[in-house]
Amino acid sequence: MALLLSGKRILLGISGGIAAYKSADLIRRLKERGAEVRVIQTDAACEFITPLTLQALSGHPVANSLLDPAAEAAMGHIELAKWADLLLIAPASADLIARLAHGLANDLLSTCVLATDAPVAVAPAMNQQMYKNIATKHNIDTLKTRNFYIWGPAAGEQACGDVGMGRMLEPLQLVDLVLEHFAPKVLPLEGVSLVITAGPTREPIDPVRYISNHSSGKMGFALAEAAVQLGAQVTLIAGPVQLATPAGVKRIDVVTADQMYQVALEQAISAHIFIGCAAVADYKVAQVATQKLKKTSDDSTSLTLVKNPDIIAAVAALTSQRPFTVGFAAETQDVANYARQKLVKKKLDLICANDVSLSNQGFNSEQNALTVFWADGEQQFGLQAKTELAQQLLLLINERYLHEKSH
Ligand code: C5P
Repeated sequence: MALLLSGKRILLGISGGIAAYKSADLIRRLKERGAEVRVIQTDAACEFITPLTLQALSGHPVANSLLDPAAEAAMGHIELAKWADLLLIAPASADLIARLAHGLANDLLSTCVLATDAPVAVAPAMNQQMYKNIATKHNIDTLKTRNFYIWGPAAGEQACGDVGMGRMLEPLQLVDLVLEHFAPKVLPLEGVSLVITAGPTREPIDPVRYISNHSSGKMGFALAEAAVQLGAQVTLIAGPVQLATPAGVKRIDVVTADQMYQVALEQAISAHIFIGCAAVADYKVAQVATQKLKKTSDDSTSLTLVKNPDIIAAVAALTSQRPFTVGFAAETQDVANYARQKLVKKKLDLICANDVSLSNQGFNSEQNALTVFWADGEQQFGLQAKTELAQQLLLLINERYLHEKSH
């Protein structure tokens, strides 16, 4: 029977600290679950537990020196760094954490941390006062921003007699975290396909002029990016915007509302969820001039505008293959009322309303706040980065979609 960690290669880094004695048990527990474990010890760690013990438990020679020709010939440091599926450092002393935060490579363990592209998990272990020290806190925060996992520490009695935060997690707790790390993850939007419209549309007046609006497309692009990260398949229909395509997103560029309408209806029928995030121009010029319009001696001029098709209303009106349809309402007053009216009028399943009269949110801003309405409910999302908001909003949309599907 395959064990939960069968085939997983764990490079265990041990730095100097009294908790190093627990690393011996950690190796056993990891191996019991099928993991292959190789050990790197810092010089200080060798003072706390002998390489011989760890060699016997791991079944491999313990690596310690960057400059040992025999060890380098057997399995060089770069090879070791590449070999690992996970680099787990337990215990990680305050000194080692400081060196990692500064990107030092002054011993074998810190060098391997720089040289690996495997995830690195750090289990801090130190005196509670050292852990509380602002320098240590900054160093740990730095590692977090670099996507290191920080596992622990726990609170309790310390070897030095102090009581407080700084104890290394117990070996079995660390094993649980390793198991969780390797457990196959089912993403919440896996198997769900989304079509998202984003950005403004641009309605030509003549070959050089157009009517448009201030939509940046950021919210729609943030939704597309977050949806892919949550496991969805995403088609993004983008008006003219200055934004890079998020990884994994299929992007179709359009310019006018008519083009967006055509592409949206083609795509919507094969999607589970349609999100109309675009700020579609309400009107287009009735007669687009084929030549540049000339200035006249009159003080005023006029253009005849005709209504653009309502894309989202057309998607929501589909009688077969209709996706769960989500609209946006950018309002400057009486937001809840107008949004609810739009929900009903356009026959949407859900509408996300924001107040664009506030200067720090909505159009062209990095931040947004929303209130979401559906037939028999509503939910508020406070002002936050559009990227954060996108994730939370998608989880709610998915929840409502699954709810509708099951009824
Ligand atoms: O009517 P209003 O423009 O305020 O409605 C906003 C919602 O309708 C948004 O979801 C927007 O993407 C969508 N919409 C559309 N086609 C239009 C106008 C708006 O899909 N022509």
